[in-house]
Amino acid sequence: MNSQLEALTQEILTAIEQAKDAKALDFIRTKYFSRQGAFSLLRQTITQLPPEERRAFGQAVNAAYEKLQSALSSRAESFAPLESLFPPDPTLPPRTYPQGSLHPVLTLLSRSVEIFRSLGFALADGPEVEYEYFNFDALNTPPDHPARNEQDTFYIDPPEKAHPKWGRRLLRTQTSPIQIRVMQSQKPPIRIIAPGRCYRRDEIDATHSLSFHQIEGLYVDQNVTLAQLKGTLEYFFRSLLGNDLEFRFRPHFFPFTEPSFEVDCARSDTVYKGKKWLEICGCGMVHPKVLEESGIDPEKYTGFAFGFGLERIAMQIHGVTDLRMFTENDIRLLSALTPPI
Ligand code: DAH
Repeated sequence: MNSQLEALTQEILTAIEQAKDAKALDFIRTKYFSRQGAFSLLRQTITQLPPEERRAFGQAVNAAYEKLQSALSSRAESFAPLESLFPPDPTLPPRTYPQGSLHPVLTLLSRSVEIFRSLGFALADGPEVEYEYFNFDALNTPPDHPARNEQDTFYIDPPEKAHPKWGRRLLRTQTSPIQIRVMQSQKPPIRIIAPGRCYRRDEIDATHSLSFHQIEGLYVDQNVTLAQLKGTLEYFFRSLLGNDLEFRFRPHFFPFTEPSFEVDCARSDTVYKGKKWLEICGCGMVHPKVLEESGIDPEKYTGFAFGFGLERIAMQIHGVTDLRMFTENDIRLLSALTPPI
């Protein structure tokens, strides 16, 4: 009987010695020491021995067991991960982990809000799911106006579900409806900016996206002038993009302002896509019909309004040539763009 124990002990010792990794040791543990393992089975034969032999055999089995277990654990130690042999040095400087950063469009938005706040503009907000009335009608954009073309707009309600006064709901195409919401809930003087996300059913390409951000501005009071509009926008864009900026106010058409302008800016040393002037903002004096629709007397009050897209300006600031890069969620872009402002 003892010779069988010795042979098995030797076999297991050899296996332990030859084990190449911790997995091989696990295999040995199962093979020999699990309930049906060879060593366990041999140990169970104690009960079949005549009583006078049991003691000696029992002691031999236990001794062999101890020896094998310690061989197993010292072999296991040699496979232990490096860390347990070389515990971490608490005096080493900490590892640095990559830090997140704000999205460039959001950075631009916050900076813009900050500048307008310094000029006394308060922050206003409106829903992204808007009614036709606020997005179009109240902005002097009647139902037959091309801007209402279904092709350009995401409608939410079918015609039969239209609200009796406000019409169908749609994803707002501009932040201008916030002007109406503010004028219908506050009395002049009103001086607000309203940043937000807008939606249009555009073909997606390097400069068009289904969703983008705008900042809307509105100032209504007695004797608000075009000169104040120019001064405000020039001050804002110079604070944002640099003092050396030149401006051009080009006559344009928007249904909700009269007169209306598009603002172009240029920097003497920079050419955008072969052109000197970059179109950055729409603006004008609030149309009397728009004031009237919102319960403000156009004989007594005047106002200016403006609206501009953030993505386009962010592209210029960062030299990003494809708008889609802003929404691809590639952190290589985000970490490459150090906040310039
Ligand atoms: N809502 C216009 C657009 O999306 C931009 C705009 C132009 C806003 C003139 C204004 C404005 O407030 O006065 O193209």
